[in-house]
Amino acid sequence: MTRRMFSRYSLGGLSLPNRVVMAPMNRNRALEPQLAPAAMSAVYYAQRASAGLIIGEGTPVSLQARGCAGTPGIYNAAQVAGWRWVTDAVHRRGGRIFLQLWHVGRVGHCSLRADASPPVGPSTIGLQNDRVPVLDGNGEPVLVRCDPPRALRTEEIRAIVGDFARAAGNAIAAGFDGVEIHAANGYLFDQFRCPYLNDRADEYGGATRKRWRFLLETVAAVARAVGSERVGVRISPLGTAHEMQPDPAPLFTYGYLACRLDELRIAYLHVYDQSGSWIHDSQSDLLQQLRSCYSGTMILCGGFDAARAEAALRADSGDLIAFGKHFIANPDLVERLRIAAPLASWHSSTIYKGGANGYIDYPTLQQEALGTH
Ligand SMILES: Cc1cc2nc3c(=O)[nH]c(=O)nc-3n(C[C@H](O)[C@H](O)[C@H](O)COP(=O)(O)O)c2cc1C
Repeated sequence: MTRRMFSRYSLGGLSLPNRVVMAPMNRNRALEPQLAPAAMSAVYYAQRASAGLIIGEGTPVSLQARGCAGTPGIYNAAQVAGWRWVTDAVHRRGGRIFLQLWHVGRVGHCSLRADASPPVGPSTIGLQNDRVPVLDGNGEPVLVRCDPPRALRTEEIRAIVGDFARAAGNAIAAGFDGVEIHAANGYLFDQFRCPYLNDRADEYGGATRKRWRFLLETVAAVARAVGSERVGVRISPLGTAHEMQPDPAPLFTYGYLACRLDELRIAYLHVYDQSGSWIHDSQSDLLQQLRSCYSGTMILCGGFDAARAEAALRADSGDLIAFGKHFIANPDLVERLRIAAPLASWHSSTIYKGGANGYIDYPTLQQEALGTH
């Protein structure tokens, strides 16, 4: 029986050799003070170029958008040049790569900006316990409580739409095949979606369509800047990361969004189930609602292995399957899935720090066999 995971797929103008997507994952290896990707990031991503598509890590679109130390940005010339090394390296290996564009909203800390400005959000409602990594006096990452956010003024929202469009243009100038707008995981757009956090009286708060307006205006602006076929959107329905509460009316909320994104003819909708549960159920109301409202490419993510990926593709729950953690320790994940080889385990101590260690030194099966790592 042919396996769908290893069949080709046409995504916009790109021909993907398989349905395995590398999910966006921050690894916090960027260099201060420019926050450009480190040279070894080109090695890291190129090692994983056999993925049908790589989605590069969450990348702040401005200084204000930052929420962690060590995340590379896409808003200055040094960052564009640094990312150019990455995209060239991936393309030389025959791969394809999008970049995830990110604004953390309220999930941040004053020390991440030279002017010590606070994080921003739809309202002044802050996080109770969540922590973010910042640098201590020795330049080492330490976790600190998020600072209370300030509510964005209406005109600032329009300026952030512009930041995303500019960042998307920078990403294309840096050689990316497209961009993914990060509307998942309790960050800025998810915060605006959330009726418990968004108490705004302007056109970006209130009814569902108003709470999604910020995201939809951003998607439209980014599509105008780089072409709709180069824009993906990631959501995490029912997610609770960063102290979010599940949406009170998910079928309506996400169905509405999926219909509007369908009209915008974007490259894909990327659906991440943080619980790794309903996404594996082809009868899930939510999954079926998304699939019926959105006719384009759907990427599914959250707790997939080879069997679950194949089952989801066969049930037509999605078109592509994104893997996160398995890509950390298995640069040749696609090959390992293809031949059902054992998967290596990742070391949690080096996920967000350690330089090259735990980043570019995980061997492929071939390197292991030849003893060349
Ligand atoms: C180290 C790490 C960093 C992550 N960074 C991001 C990110 O930058 N943007 C994002 O949308 N999700 C991020 N995620 C979530 C992953 O994209 C993915 O959704 C998650 O790991 C679930 O997939 P999995 O079960 O295959 O690991 C991250 C996850 C991990 C483990």
